[in-house]
Amino acid sequence: MPGRLIDGNAVSANIRSKLATRVSNLKEKGTSPCLATILVGNDPASSLYIQNKQKAAKQVGLVTKDHRLEENLQENELALLIDSLNNDPAVHGILVQLPLPKHINEFDIINKIVSCKDVDGLTSVNSGLLLHGEASLKPCTPSGIMELLDYYNIEIKSQNAIIVNRSILVGKPLAFLLLERDATVTICHSKSANLGSLLLGSDIVITAVGNRDRFILKAEMVKENAVVIDVGTNRKSGKLLGDVDFESVREKASWITPVPGGVGPMTIAMLLSNTVTAASALNPISTS
Ligand code: GUN
Repeated sequence: MPGRLIDGNAVSANIRSKLATRVSNLKEKGTSPCLATILVGNDPASSLYIQNKQKAAKQVGLVTKDHRLEENLQENELALLIDSLNNDPAVHGILVQLPLPKHINEFDIINKIVSCKDVDGLTSVNSGLLLHGEASLKPCTPSGIMELLDYYNIEIKSQNAIIVNRSILVGKPLAFLLLERDATVTICHSKSANLGSLLLGSDIVITAVGNRDRFILKAEMVKENAVVIDVGTNRKSGKLLGDVDFESVREKASWITPVPGGVGPMTIAMLLSNTVTAASALNPISTS
């Protein structure tokens, strides 16, 4: 029997409909939750992500600010914009779309965002809280994956989970979230030895490589009944593909996410959720 489908569109629609209610409750009490996004440059993939985030934010009733900046802007100009958003009481969440152009230091820029408006959960403060299991604003893709696993009651405790990605956006924070839930976690990357045997020993496989010339997860690489979460985004002749050879891996997996319609919509839903959480925390009197 083929693996069951983890439907990120359906789960995220459910989350977004609950968020719409929370947003309207906040508005009734005088707070209009607002998400400010910043995009530097014209990278088509990043532009599309921002467009989708803006659209989804408006759909749940959030106020949005959409800052588009020139590729060649100076780091201090970007820092000034972030400062002004930090100090604007009408703004509750700030997202700087990554990657930034090479001449801008991502670490420094992310850390310009005040932690209470850091709806990406990437500042040093929020990363530190995550490490302690105390974060309320968690990185969106990892928390979206945890939501999917929980929605379908997929066992995490004592499972061997492998993450093929070591980024600050996905692999590292996800490792902590899975560890907190008593999984045994392995993080792999391009220099890992024995990737094949590590994959075959894993009950939960999360892959976020995004380069099908270098890595495709094939059926023979996964254990029977593995849970397969595909975070990869590869654009091939206008078509969006994940890292996974979906049809063949599905035959072996117990659960599997499609691309599109798996993790992607969850990343957006968790961004909206973080924004509502940030607005509630910044205006505690208005919180229901
Ligand atoms: N680029 C790709 N994914 C993300 C994300 O979740 N947040 C930000 N800020 N940039 C991204």
